[in-house]
Amino acid sequence: MSKVIEVKHPLIQHKLTLIRDKNTGSKDFRLLVKEVSLLLGYEVTSDLPLEEVEIETPLVKAKSYVIAGKKLGIIPILRAGLGMVDAMLELMPAAKVGHIGLYRDPETLKPVEYYCKLPSDVSERKLIVVDPMLATGGSAAAAITFLKEKGANDIKLVNIIASPEGISEVQKLHPDVDIYVASIDERLNDHGYILPGLGDAGDRLFGTK
Ligand code: PRP
Ligand code: URA
Repeated sequence: MSKVIEVKHPLIQHKLTLIRDKNTGSKDFRLLVKEVSLLLGYEVTSDLPLEEVEIETPLVKAKSYVIAGKKLGIIPILRAGLGMVDAMLELMPAAKVGHIGLYRDPETLKPVEYYCKLPSDVSERKLIVVDPMLATGGSAAAAITFLKEKGANDIKLVNIIASPEGISEVQKLHPDVDIYVASIDERLNDHGYILPGLGDAGDRLFGTK
């Protein structure tokens, strides 16, 4: 079974309070999503392999470390996942970015695919799928299934808020995918929204309704 890492850093908890507040407007919401994504990005990269290299400081030769191993890929689930990309790219500037467009049908709550553009070598990359919300889990599970169909075999999922139901769904379908999350909330409501949650992440990020 995969690991679920709830990152309970004080800065994350503080910023989450602001993110959840309905009075936080899009400009601040975007900034806060980026800041929390940076903190989650720090955590999701904590097991990247290193290799030793030799460098020269202005004073002496020294052994030091650089990231080694597979190249990285960031995969935002559109739209709301876009809000997490800049933070991930600031931490991993050489990563390639693949986009998967999914929206949740409001009646069935099932994900509907409308766009996909991936790096050609996803099978050789460590992929980090990003989406602020893991609600029923349908969108994340579908995106991960899609990546696996393209040959991906090394995937982590990063969400800001997850429901217990969404975590169970992803773990059931993708027991190899670890999940990093800032908060595991209480439950879903009858419309598939996370409680207490933050509302509709895409709408709040982009000022739509
Ligand atoms: C939201 C969110 C996730 C999905 C989560 O996207 O960003 O992708 O819902 O719900 P699920 O776990 O039940 O699938 P939405 O479908 O609202 O599209 P948007 O990002 O374009 O607003
Ligand atoms: N998508 C969102 O943006 N928010 C939720 O609470 C559930 C799905």
